[in-house]
Amino acid sequence: MTDVFATQFRTRAAGALRSSEAGETVRLAGWVNRRRDLGALVFLDLRDRAGVVQVSFDPAYATPEAIKLARQLGPEDVVQVEGTVEVRPGDKGNRELETGEVEVRATSLRLLQAAQPLPIPVFRSPDEELPSEDLRLRYRYLDLRRPELQRNLLLRHRAARTVREFLDSQGFVEVETPLLTRRTPEGARDYLVPSRVHPGEFYALPQSPQIYKQLLMVSGFDRYYQIVRCLRDEDLRADRQPEFTQIDAEMAFVTEEDVYRVGEGLMQALWKAVLGVDLPVPFPRLTYSEAMYRYGTDKPDLRLGLEIVDVTELLQNADFRVFQGTIGTTQRIRGIRVPGGAVLSRKEVDDLQAVAKRGGAPGALWVKRGDDAWTGQFAKALDATISERLAAAAGIEPGDLFVAVVGDFRVRSPARPSSGSPQGSSETFMEAALDELRRHLGARMDLIDRSGHAWLWVTEFPLFDWDADSGRLVSAHHPFTSAHPDDLEKLRAATGGEGAISAEVARELFGAGLRSLAYDAVYNGNELASGSVRIHDAELQRMIFRAIGLDAEEAAQKFGFLLEAFRYGAPPHAGFAFGFDRLAMLLSGVPSLRDVIAFPKTTSARALFEGAPAPVSAAELRDLHINVVDQAK
Ligand code: AMO
Repeated sequence: MTDVFATQFRTRAAGALRSSEAGETVRLAGWVNRRRDLGALVFLDLRDRAGVVQVSFDPAYATPEAIKLARQLGPEDVVQVEGTVEVRPGDKGNRELETGEVEVRATSLRLLQAAQPLPIPVFRSPDEELPSEDLRLRYRYLDLRRPELQRNLLLRHRAARTVREFLDSQGFVEVETPLLTRRTPEGARDYLVPSRVHPGEFYALPQSPQIYKQLLMVSGFDRYYQIVRCLRDEDLRADRQPEFTQIDAEMAFVTEEDVYRVGEGLMQALWKAVLGVDLPVPFPRLTYSEAMYRYGTDKPDLRLGLEIVDVTELLQNADFRVFQGTIGTTQRIRGIRVPGGAVLSRKEVDDLQAVAKRGGAPGALWVKRGDDAWTGQFAKALDATISERLAAAAGIEPGDLFVAVVGDFRVRSPARPSSGSPQGSSETFMEAALDELRRHLGARMDLIDRSGHAWLWVTEFPLFDWDADSGRLVSAHHPFTSAHPDDLEKLRAATGGEGAISAEVARELFGAGLRSLAYDAVYNGNELASGSVRIHDAELQRMIFRAIGLDAEEAAQKFGFLLEAFRYGAPPHAGFAFGFDRLAMLLSGVPSLRDVIAFPKTTSARALFEGAPAPVSAAELRDLHINVVDQAK
C-alpha cells in the first residue's frame, strides 16, 4: 500500500508504523518529541501528524555521525531518519504509543532544522501542568503541536467532511455568501468595516447569512447549505466566540417537519462518523412552554430527570407566610424532588440559597422527608394531610429532599409562554432559579448519565420578547420567523392599522404569549441549533414589522431588498443553523470552543498571536475618513 504521506523527504508517516511494517527500510521526517540518552544507546521519540514512534540509535547499526548528532538533538528539532522497522520484544513494547509494538532502528540521521529553546513545551510528562492559556495562545502554532489539539482539529475536519457528504446526499448545494454586507437581523452588535471609497459609510460583517439564504430560496436553489463564518460583537463566554462557524441550511417547499428530519439525519451521520454512536430518531420534542414549565429552561439536559412540579394550590394554605403570600397573586410555588437528597449536609442545603440567587430568586425553601418525620424550613407547616398530598404530588419518598422556589414564572401554564401583562423591567421570572437548582443538585447527587446523548427539539418559541430598555417588543428569533398559525388572528387584530403599534398594544401582545414557528436543537443541555419556518407572505411580514415598531419606511430601509424579493414569487421555506464549533467541542469532549478552533480569540476578543485588534496609522485612518477620539481625553 502506498502511504499518502510519502514524499521526497520520507517514505512513511512515522506515527502510522505498525508491526505489519516490520523489516521494512523507511525514511521518516518529523520533530524530536524527546530524547533519552542511555549511554551506549540513544532513543528519540519522533513525532509527526500521525503520532509518535521510538527511534533507537545503536552503534552496531547507526553511523558514528548519526549517533553524535542524535546526542546533540533538543526538543522540537526537525530531523530526517533512515532505518528499519523492528518489532519490539514483548516485554519492551510501549502500550501508551499506538506505534508501541515497533521501533525504528536508525542507520542515519539528518538535521533539517534546529529549534531554539521553546517558550512553551510541546512534550509534557503526565504530571506537568499546561502553561497559562494566554501564553499558549501567544504561541498558538506551538500549542497546536500538542496531540490533544491535533486530535480536536482532525476531528473537526472529519466532522466537516461528514456534514458536506450528508447534505450533498440530500440535494443541498453549497453557496458562498458575502462577508462585506449590511446589517443582519440576529440581534448582536455588528462588526463594521469602513468604506474608503464612500466616506462615512460602513459595511457590516454578517452575523449569519440569514437574508442571503432566504434570497437563495427565492432564486430557486431549493436546498442551500454553507459551513460559514459568522461574526458577532458580543460578550464572550466559553461557548461563544466573536467569529464562529455555522452549518447554515435552508430548504424550500418544506414545513418544520421536513427540517427536523434533515437536522436529525445530519446529527445521526455526525455522531456515527465521529463517535460511532447510533442516535435514535426522531428526537423527542418539547414546546418552549413545556420545557420551561418542566425544566425551567429552554435548553433542558434530558439526561437528568428532576422535573419541576407546581405545588401552589397544595401549599398555599399551609401555615407558612411565604406560601400564603401567593394567595390572590400571580405567584406560584414550584419545586423539585431530589431522590436521596436527604443525605445533604446542613451546609449543603444552606448553600442552595446562593444557587437559587444565581438564578434571580430571593432564595430557596427546602424540606427533607425522613422515615417518620419531615425536617427543614417549612416542615412545621406540613400537617399530615398536606405532607401526604405533597409526597404524592412530587413523588417524595423517605430519604428525599424537596426544594421549592416562590415567585412569578414566565410560563404559568404549560400551554403558553406568558399570560397577563408584563410589569416591565422589574419583573424577574423564577424559571432560571429552578434551572440552577436542578443542574446543581443533579451534579451533586451524580444523577446525570455522562455517557448519554440526549437530543431534543424545543419548538414553538415565543414570537416576541419584551425589551425593557426601549419598552418595545423585539423578535425573539429574528423578524423573518413565522407566527404560529393558531396565533395569527391575535397578531392580525393587533397590527391591523397603518404604522407601528402603540406601546399599550405592544404590551398586550407580549402578554398574550404569541408563539412562533421557531425551534432549537438541544443536546445534553446545550443549544446547538436554531431555526424557523420563515415568513414568505408580505402581509404577515408587515404585521411583524409593525409589532416590533418598524413602520413601512424603516422596514423598507432596513430589509427593503428582502421584502422586494418576496414580491416576485417566494416559495414557502424554512431552515436552521447548527453551531459547528459547539458541535466540534461536544464531540471532542472538551470544555471550551478555544480547544477546537485553530486560532481562537481570548475572552476579551483579542487575537494574542497575530496581535489583533491593533491601532492603525494616521494616514490609513485619513484614507478611511475616520477620526479616532482620544480615549485619554
Ligand atoms: P442563532 O443566532 O441561534 O441562529 O445561531 C445558530 C447557532 O450558532 C451557534 N452560535 C454560536 N457559536 C459560537 N459562538 C457564538 N458567538 C455563537 N452564536 C451562535 C449556536 C446557535 O444555536 N440565522 C439563524 C439560524 C436560522 O434561523 O436558520 C441564526 O444565526 O449553536
